[in-house]
Amino acid sequence: MTEIAVEATEVPAQLPHIRVAVLGAGKMGGILVQAFLKNNLFAADQIHATVAHAEKAIARSAQWGVDVSTDNLAAAQQADLILVGVKPFQVPDLIAEIRPALTSNTTLVSFAASVKTRAIEDAAGLEIGVIRAMPNTPSALGAGAAGLCRGRFVKPEQMELALRIFETVGRCVVVDEKHMDAVTGLSASGPAYIYIIIEALAEAGVKVGLPRDIATQLAAQTVFGAGKMALETGYHPALLKDEVTTPAGCTIDGILELEEGGLRVTLIKAVMRATQRAKELAAG
Ligand SMILES: NC(=O)c1ccc[n+]([C@@H]2O[C@H](COP(=O)([O-])OP(=O)(O)OC[C@H]3O[C@@H](n4cnc5c(N)ncnc54)[C@H](OP(=O)(O)O)[C@@H]3O)[C@@H](O)[C@H]2O)c1
Repeated sequence: MTEIAVEATEVPAQLPHIRVAVLGAGKMGGILVQAFLKNNLFAADQIHATVAHAEKAIARSAQWGVDVSTDNLAAAQQADLILVGVKPFQVPDLIAEIRPALTSNTTLVSFAASVKTRAIEDAAGLEIGVIRAMPNTPSALGAGAAGLCRGRFVKPEQMELALRIFETVGRCVVVDEKHMDAVTGLSASGPAYIYIIIEALAEAGVKVGLPRDIATQLAAQTVFGAGKMALETGYHPALLKDEVTTPAGCTIDGILELEEGGLRVTLIKAVMRATQRAKELAAG
């Protein structure tokens, strides 16, 4: 699990009046809990997290300094904002379990892939504000990418709260719910694709004689820099690519290999397959 260095702080929390439950604080939920603490969004005593196994609850509680238990209902009963982070197929049972704690003022944010806001509203059995979010693991370092969509009963202040949370841990876009599986296939799965690209570039560096640690640093920084250029200049990626590609230079030879190897089509197909799979996950 990604660990974030969180130091004890005296600075008041940015959202001191909200009590938060993170139900299913595994990899993604754990990243969010730690990022909330690190960014001082909530104080440790505002957060109650849950996991399935008692021994993990004890370990996480000691590690994060927040209340972690296996009691979803108790956590939900104390919360104004509930984040749902169990596996997609577990979401309906979890919502049924915490149903007695839910009111029309509760804000429910599910970051489970595939599970529709409608399914959560139905499981809750009341007109409750349900926001679906799809974050990714770089949220750990404030460099996340998240897509959000709103359910039928979301009040503006609830959406503002969800945006505030995910903007604290990275970049955030609001999309129609029909696009959420595509967000999953692109940016939630995306870090895995990029790690493979970094690994491959580093391996390539080794092949052409660079020490592995230097090759890995150069590869990762190149991915970081190219992403920053695309985001901060707003230029089309093709234009940025053209700036690197001197006529008859070396980059065009590299690009020729990439095109022959089908990198572009392979990435498109990877996102298509992951998006398709995201549509199926809620069914288990
Ligand atoms: N990983 C990602 O990059 C990513 C990105 C975006 C969204 N998501 C979504 O996040 C969700 C979790 O994925 P993950 O990768 O974080 O998986 P994970 O590490 O397996 O986390 C799931 C957590 O849920 C806990 N859990 C299981 N049953 C529970 C129950 N009945 N009550 C309370 N907690 C329970 C597990 O507890 P134990 O630890 O005790 O087993 C575990 O901590 C999924 O729905 C996924 O679609 C993941």
